[in-house]
Amino acid sequence: MRELSLHILDIVQNSISATASLINIYINENLEGDLLTIKIRDNGRGIPEEQLLHITDPFYTTRTTREVGLGLSLFRQTARRSGGGLEIKSQIGAGTEVTAFFAHSHIDRPPMGDIKGTLLTLIALNPDLDFTYQHLYRDREFFLDTRVIKEELEGIEINQQAVLGWLGEFIKKGLEDLYGGEG
Ligand SMILES: Nc1ncnc2c1ncn2[C@@H]1O[C@H](COP(=O)(O)OP(=O)(O)OP(=O)(O)O)[C@@H](O)[C@H]1O
Ligand SMILES: [Mg+2]
Repeated sequence: MRELSLHILDIVQNSISATASLINIYINENLEGDLLTIKIRDNGRGIPEEQLLHITDPFYTTRTTREVGLGLSLFRQTARRSGGGLEIKSQIGAGTEVTAFFAHSHIDRPPMGDIKGTLLTLIALNPDLDFTYQHLYRDREFFLDTRVIKEELEGIEINQQAVLGWLGEFIKKGLEDLYGGEG
């Protein structure tokens, strides 16, 4: 995939399929250490141990509509090509954590892509799920928690057009401040 945001969307889709109610997305851009970390954690059903062993095998999937599961193996490929790798931790009934590492400056490391669009899409299509988004860049941080936003909305649906418009501006501003004109 040409953008990391598309991988994130794809991996979060696995969490949603695993009936997670809370999904934590964490991005750390450590420029000094030349390390980019993307972590997606959910409280879904978890992955059985024997399945974990071949989960990034491109021919392994539990889906029935098509024989090949691609999401995790593609993410691993992208990470490895960028001087990094992929780790999956999971516990049945507790949840799953997928962590991808990249050499930040690697020529093959895809750009972040449309993070704002990805977050808005996830929130708009899954108003009953909760998401946190934590993004570190240098010594700055952008953080968003839909549970906090919902509390402030006092019953107004988070996926109403006006709310999504406000949320889009909030994310845009947050990411601009995070990158401080660099990004
Ligand atoms: N967060 C998760 N929680 C529980 N099971 C998961 C999770 N992520 C992946 N899995 C399991 O691992 C399998 C492989 O995931 P992967 O994303 O690689 O392929 P897929 O989702 O089956 O197909 P695709 O992503 O190509 O649509 C899934 O079918 C699912 O059984
Ligand atoms: Mg998938």
